[in-house]
Amino acid sequence: MFLPLLQRSSAPVVVNVSSALGSLGRMTDQETRQYAYRGMAYPASAAAVNMVTIKYAKAFPGIRINAVEPGYTRTDINGRRGGQPVEQGAEIIVRMARLGTDGPTGTYTDIDGPLAW
Ligand SMILES: NC(=O)c1ccc[n+]([C@@H]2O[C@H](COP(=O)([O-])OP(=O)(O)OC[C@H]3O[C@@H](n4cnc5c(N)ncnc54)[C@H](OP(=O)(O)O)[C@@H]3O)[C@@H](O)[C@H]2O)c1
Repeated sequence: MFLPLLQRSSAPVVVNVSSALGSLGRMTDQETRQYAYRGMAYPASAAAVNMVTIKYAKAFPGIRINAVEPGYTRTDINGRRGGQPVEQGAEIIVRMARLGTDGPTGTYTDIDGPLAW
């Protein structure tokens, strides 16, 4: 639906707001905070967002399409229990939304850098 609009942009960008709970690498690594997470639907849907990111990034090399993990942020989804304010969670989203045409695509990052898929 948004494709024609994106293709009219001189620097088209898509930022998929994913979660570290969608990381298969972290979910299988006992050393991570994500390992002990008990829910099923949320991590599975975040993993699906990651796969969609990869597939779209390959299909549309002229568009920067990346997945990000904002960090545990105080929003409605967690009853405002997140460890950081929305402004901080938005940082990586805004950073990736401002990529130029030479920026990366098909990546999965948080504020500190790349995450294991
Ligand atoms: N907060 C965190 O700690 C955290 C950590 C990692 C990743 N994330 C990711 O960040 C993203 C944004 O979440 P958030 O923290 O900003 O949570 P939020 O404040 O609860 O916002 C979720 C948004 O999704 C919308 N939504 C929910 N179900 C929908 C549906 N079926 N169709 C259309 N819109 C729907 C809600 O709309 P209404 O307001 O109309 O209900 C709301 O605007 C999510 O993808 C989440 O997985 C959040």
